[in-house]
Amino acid sequence: MLHLLLLLAVILPVHSLFYDRFEDLPVQEFDFIVVGGGTAGNVVANRLTEDADVRVLVLEAGGSDKDAYNSHVPLYGRRLQGSQYDWNFTTTPQAALNDRAIPYPRGFIIGGSSSINLMVYTRGPSEDWDRMARVTGDSGWTWNNIQPYIRKNERFVPPADHHNTTGQFDPKVHSLDGVNSVSLSGWQYSSDPRVLEAIAQSNGEFPFNEDMNSGFQLGFGWTQSTVGDGTRSSSATSYLGAKYIQRNNLFVLLHARVLRLKQTNTESAAENLTVRGLEFTQDAGSTSHVLQASKEIILSAGSIGTPTILMLSGIGDPTELSTVGIKPLHDLPSVGKNLTDHPLLVTTYNANTTDTPDDILRNATFAKPFERRWNETKTGPLSSGQGRILGWFRFNLSSPVFGGVPDPAAGPNSAHFEMIIGNGAGSPPPTGHYLGLTLAVVAPTSTGSLMLNSSNPLDPPLINPNVLGTDFDFTAMREAFFASKRFTSTPAWDGYILSSTVNVTDDNLDDFIRNETGVIWHPVRTAAMSARGADYGVVDPDLKVKGLNGLRIVDASVLPFIPSAHTQVPTYIIAERASDLIKQAYHLK
Ligand SMILES: Cc1cc2nc3c(=O)[nH]c(=O)nc-3n(C[C@H](O)[C@H](O)[C@H](O)COP(=O)(O)OP(=O)(O)OC[C@H]3O[C@@H](n4cnc5c(N)ncnc54)[C@H](O)[C@@H]3O)c2cc1C
Ligand SMILES: *[C@@H]1O[C@H](CO)[C@@H](O)[C@H](O)[C@H]1NC(C)=O
Ligand SMILES: *[C@@H]1O[C@H](CO)[C@@H](O)[C@H](O)[C@H]1NC(C)=O
Ligand SMILES: *[C@@H]1O[C@H](CO)[C@@H](O)[C@H](O)[C@H]1NC(C)=O
Ligand SMILES: *[C@@H]1O[C@H](CO)[C@@H](O)[C@H](O)[C@H]1NC(C)=O
Ligand SMILES: *[C@@H]1O[C@H](CO)[C@@H](O)[C@H](O)[C@H]1NC(C)=O
Ligand SMILES: *[C@@H]1O[C@H](CO)[C@@H](O)[C@H](O)[C@H]1NC(C)=O
Ligand SMILES: *[C@@H]1O[C@H](CO)[C@@H](O)[C@H](O)[C@H]1NC(C)=O
Ligand SMILES: *[C@@H]1O[C@H](CO)[C@@H](O)[C@H](O)[C@H]1NC(C)=O
Ligand SMILES: *[C@@H]1O[C@H](CO)[C@@H](O)[C@H](O)[C@H]1NC(C)=O
Ligand SMILES: *[C@@H]1O[C@H](CO)[C@@H](O)[C@H](O)[C@H]1NC(C)=O
Ligand SMILES: *[C@@H]1O[C@H](CO)[C@@H](O)[C@H](O)[C@H]1NC(C)=O
Repeated sequence: MLHLLLLLAVILPVHSLFYDRFEDLPVQEFDFIVVGGGTAGNVVANRLTEDADVRVLVLEAGGSDKDAYNSHVPLYGRRLQGSQYDWNFTTTPQAALNDRAIPYPRGFIIGGSSSINLMVYTRGPSEDWDRMARVTGDSGWTWNNIQPYIRKNERFVPPADHHNTTGQFDPKVHSLDGVNSVSLSGWQYSSDPRVLEAIAQSNGEFPFNEDMNSGFQLGFGWTQSTVGDGTRSSSATSYLGAKYIQRNNLFVLLHARVLRLKQTNTESAAENLTVRGLEFTQDAGSTSHVLQASKEIILSAGSIGTPTILMLSGIGDPTELSTVGIKPLHDLPSVGKNLTDHPLLVTTYNANTTDTPDDILRNATFAKPFERRWNETKTGPLSSGQGRILGWFRFNLSSPVFGGVPDPAAGPNSAHFEMIIGNGAGSPPPTGHYLGLTLAVVAPTSTGSLMLNSSNPLDPPLINPNVLGTDFDFTAMREAFFASKRFTSTPAWDGYILSSTVNVTDDNLDDFIRNETGVIWHPVRTAAMSARGADYGVVDPDLKVKGLNGLRIVDASVLPFIPSAHTQVPTYIIAERASDLIKQAYHLK
């Protein structure tokens, strides 16, 4: 019997997808090597290996998500920030924020930031996509032309509580047969009907929009989330999930941190460099391994990781690289520039209710029965995030925010600011129950940068999103705050909202904004796409790095502008289209 089993093991090698040690990989030759098994990287890995003749390796710095309970439980998503699954970056001191340095989480886990984010599913307004097509000169990026990729990604499923969702979304604009689960909230709160009432009482200032993901985003609508069966759907649970991927041509090496990329052609032809090699470590740099892809390296390390790796490899502004002791290889001064994020201001109100998740979030004893319920049935309050209804709004063009600045939104139907109505506080104080109202400036004009601090690839980079760095952005946050006050002043909130948790007046509002503003962690543009032949930008519209052979970038860093949207869906869409572009380039199935 034992002999038979051994024999079977030899003739039917058991293939595993995940490996912890390079030494255990059964092969070392790959057509494509994907750097970063994050949101975008896993899409590319999945799609390219649809062709059985293509062999792909994913190198991911973080580890498995199997035991990451807080990643699976939607309500516990915030607990991942600052945890073992976070890279724990911090920004440089932010001038407009009283020189505060703010935490900058990024997923350090398979699935990347899709394994630690807050799961909000937004595609953005059609105008954002049409602008991207316009500035890159590639009509493949228009809203109409990306529709197939939205559909390949999305799998719209019923909410965990199977409530009647009629009128809460538009089924016509959703896909039922993609890979990544999306659903409406699986748990209802008594604040929900109040929000709808406040919308109705706002005299049209805050209209209701049945589905913000239709291409027309303006107004308030029910939050759609990357959640299925009451559980987070990340690029790891979906694109690398057993249901979608049973392939012997895909290998994922965990705990593998890429240090730099390497030129692979021998001729010293500076005009025609090929960068298909890389060096990575599994033991914090004590030893490293070198690999080469026969076709391409796909850099998918995210808006922070990707420009960092490029610069460590000598790809960037030659003068800046020399300053930190990196030998320049390829002159691309846009690497790391134009870093943009959405400024975020969380406001909270004392609420006259106990129907919030605050007790669950701050009291483990209280949480126990709800946890047991989730563990057993994946239902109950743990099956849903806290954002109930969110909305996208514009400033009137005669508003003081503009003050001579051209409208930075992608078009007349694209938002300037967002309001997210959340039930409960994100990190609740020891007592009390809360309503959260989070504001974001979603068409900011300030840009920052990402730079190396040293030549040591294990050192964190200098991350400067330049939050509220322009008058427009600061005034926009002020005006968004005033808008939120109009919303919470509607009669719908009588008897529910007791008071604000802070005393903000016209006199101290600016100070409050400087003290409390952070970002929503949507960094983009650090390896931006631009038209072929443009005198700026890092990648062409087909996402190949300008002036290099063998290297493509597929992640949020290539976005040429920050969209009026949370960025995971744009990232998924880019990755789905990129996979098609790569398949076409190599005539893959
Ligand atoms: C806390 C938080 C909350 C968010 N909430 C939302 C939300 O609710 N909705 C939304 O739409 N968006 C949200 N976002 C943003 C969204 O998650 C990101 O825009 C998107 O996931 C970015 O995808 P990516 O593929 O570009 O990068 P990532 O998903 O971050 O993937 C990069 C991967 O590369 C790996 N990597 C990096 N460097 C190296 C290296 N040197 N070697 C090997 N591997 C490396 C990383 O570990 C990671 O796995 C949030 C982000 C955060 C951090
Ligand atoms: C982030 O910080 C947490 C808590 O200190 C730690 O456990 C984790 O290892 C850190 N992440 C990384 C990538 O170092
Ligand atoms: C769901 O609600 C809609 C309108 O509110 C109603 O027409 C429909 O019959 C309901 N569906 C079910 C299955 O109850
Ligand atoms: C550039 O190099 C690649 C491979 O290194 C080669 O195939 C190609 O012909 C070269 N192109 C030019 C214009 O020299
Ligand atoms: C920043 O983005 C703008 C708009 O696309 C572009 O004109 C500019 O050249 C970019 N800056 C750099 C350094 O790439
Ligand atoms: C936590 O919840 C338990 C169970 O409901 C309760 O008995 C206890 O008093 C709560 N603790 C605090 C500090 O509120
Ligand atoms: C729920 O499951 C997690 C992970 O298995 C476990 O750590 C936790 O104790 C469980 N909670 C309850 C209340 O059973
Ligand atoms: C813009 O605001 C001004 C003054 O508040 C008002 O008179 C005008 O009607 C508004 N315009 C639009 C298009 O809402
Ligand atoms: C950058 O390097 C300096 C000098 O080594 C160090 O003091 C500082 O903490 C570093 N900054 C970051 C963000 O790591
Ligand atoms: C709190 O709500 C209760 C009913 O739920 C109501 O009777 C009471 O007046 C409210 N309190 C305040 C201060 O509005
Ligand atoms: C706000 O000001 C009022 C009146 O001065 C005071 O009673 C209240 O405690 C203050 N609230 C907070 C949260 O500071
Ligand atoms: C801002 O922070 C400073 C320093 O912590 C504090 O003294 C001041 O009261 C804060 N202002 C507001 C409006 O929160």
